[in-house]
Amino acid sequence: MKQKILESNGCYEILDSWFIDNQVDCAMLVCGKSIAKLKINEYIKALPIRLGVKIVHFMDFQSNPVYENVVTGVEVFRKEECNAIIAVGGGSAMDVAKCIKLYSNLPNSGENGSWLQEKIIPNVIPFLVMPTTAGTGAEATRYAVIYFNGFKQSISDYSCIPKTILMDASVLKTLPDYQKKATMMDTLCHAIESFWSINSTESSKEYSKNAIRLVMSNMDAYLSNYDEGNANMLVAANIAGKAINITQTTAGHAMCYKITSIFKCAHGHAAILCNRVLFSWMIDNINKCIDPRGEEYLKKTLDEIGQAMGCVDAKTGAEKLVEIFDKLGFNVPEPTEDQYKELKLNINPVRLKNHPVSIDTTDIQELYKGILNIRLEDNYVR
Ligand SMILES: [Fe+2]
Repeated sequence: MKQKILESNGCYEILDSWFIDNQVDCAMLVCGKSIAKLKINEYIKALPIRLGVKIVHFMDFQSNPVYENVVTGVEVFRKEECNAIIAVGGGSAMDVAKCIKLYSNLPNSGENGSWLQEKIIPNVIPFLVMPTTAGTGAEATRYAVIYFNGFKQSISDYSCIPKTILMDASVLKTLPDYQKKATMMDTLCHAIESFWSINSTESSKEYSKNAIRLVMSNMDAYLSNYDEGNANMLVAANIAGKAINITQTTAGHAMCYKITSIFKCAHGHAAILCNRVLFSWMIDNINKCIDPRGEEYLKKTLDEIGQAMGCVDAKTGAEKLVEIFDKLGFNVPEPTEDQYKELKLNINPVRLKNHPVSIDTTDIQELYKGILNIRLEDNYVR
């Protein structure tokens, strides 16, 4: 599906045609409280008078949204008779908005998690998103993650991909440094993992290559908060999102989720922690290739990843990844014995299956040792 991208750098009148063309009378705005600090808030506040569009704010959700948040959102959407959805925010706002869109036309009230079991009925509710970080790529994917009874649910349907994206590079200017770095690493990890995924296609690899090149060539300008660097990083995140929309992520993401929840570090920080070790481990273990296209194909693919990073081959690309990690100044968490055990036991098996090199229990232990700099003399590492 082709997405329409509207570029804005603090000017939003470009959005007027979206409201007019889609005959929007009442739009639900899914966003966090930080919207009050964003420039787009002024544009939104003026909409009722300027274009006669009613805006219903929906902020009643948490950072790892739960199913009940979505049910509340759908109730509001129905009660207020909204006929469009806008999401402004990072992954959580977009996930909630996607689910509200998918569930808003299902026949019942969604009690006791019933919508999670029901077949989605695609609808044409106009859906626009404005990402406020350059990282998740959620605006380009068919996936939404919510929690039900403490368990992660991955909702997937093509009809939740927004048809229109507003890219506003000015929102990146005020992001805290750590968040900027971590979200950029999320983008880079999406692009790299998608590139080597066993599900990759010619077009997904093209997206990956372009996203990697954009991240590498705009890293400094983005970190210096230059307009062009910020704008290009938003594009990179979107393209990397398109890549994982085709392939999903792989071992790097499978191994990083528990790191995020145990050590409370940003998702992108955890993803680069893992991938900086995985990349060189894969080169050393290429004989355990399980991609049906074969070992030679995988070797060539890893070289191509290194080359997209501006290096000569896979080995130098893997070294570059470590260099980037060090340069960004991310810390390496130190696990206790219990945390180490917890990490080893909690890996998403679906994502591991997308990985092109077989990873068994012993490998996972070895990898976590490298990822978390666990010393060999720590006698609990067996
Ligand atoms: Fe990610």
